[in-house]
Amino acid sequence: MFVMIETGLRDKVVIVTGAAGGIGKATAQRFAEEGCQVASWDMKDGEAEENGIFQKVDVSDAESVEAAVQRVAEHWGAVNVLVNNAGILRDGQIIKYKEGTLLGSMSDEQFDSVIAVNLKGVFVCTRAVAPRMIQAGGGVILNASSVVGLYGNFGQTNYVASKSGVIGMTHVWARELGRFKIRVNAVAPGFINTEMIQGMPEKIKQAMVDHTPIGRIGQPEDIANAYVWLASDAASFVTGTVLSVDGGVVTGT
Ligand code: NAI
Repeated sequence: MFVMIETGLRDKVVIVTGAAGGIGKATAQRFAEEGCQVASWDMKDGEAEENGIFQKVDVSDAESVEAAVQRVAEHWGAVNVLVNNAGILRDGQIIKYKEGTLLGSMSDEQFDSVIAVNLKGVFVCTRAVAPRMIQAGGGVILNASSVVGLYGNFGQTNYVASKSGVIGMTHVWARELGRFKIRVNAVAPGFINTEMIQGMPEKIKQAMVDHTPIGRIGQPEDIANAYVWLASDAASFVTGTVLSVDGGVVTGT
């Protein structure tokens, strides 16, 4: 017998960070389709979903985040789901050496800027939202990690540090916030077709697809669907986990 599970998402208030980008936009749309009220946050200009709002927010700026959360709480009376999706890349090898010559290295700016958005931004947003979730009797926090946060990657010291750190924070918060009925999970996307990967050489993109057992690049909707499931009542016993949504890329390498 097939039993339909009620998602429990209708009318929930959801904040999605980085919502002007590929995965963030798709995620905001999917939650809106589920009947949620969505606050879409980004540093750059973006659009509100139907019945939603768009807010210009820098996730690494605690004041800007506090003010935005305050506005969401005033507007809808609660915050139920936070998707910590905003993220940036500033790739480079820790040291670049060729024929005995040091050609360059990852700068402090490269390291700090990625940590500020991908790691501290997740901390800042979660800290601001958690008290509202406690007031609401519970909630769901979802964090963007990456397959590289699990397994490392060439040329991504800063990015991998941030994405592994996000997994660590997910484990801590699942323990700390579980007693308030707040579930905390991370998603580790594989290779997803968004602006973030547009700069990559075609050869590398093809090699990534070749190493993916499912045989295709991921789409933003693949990740959006995972976030919606993790936020839904169907995942009510799931917390502190990292869900890989990667077409099997890790087993394919
Ligand atoms: P994207 O570049 O299309 O979107 C990222 C969005 O974050 C942009 O709209 C950007 O303006 C926003 N953003 C950057 N800094 C911000 C800040 N300080 N405050 C607020 N917003 C800020 O990237 P994409 O692919 O949609 O990535 C979303 C998340 O998924 C990121 O955390 C990324 O690291 C992660 N991810 C993406 C993968 C991919 O293959 N595309 C693979 C694994 C993880």
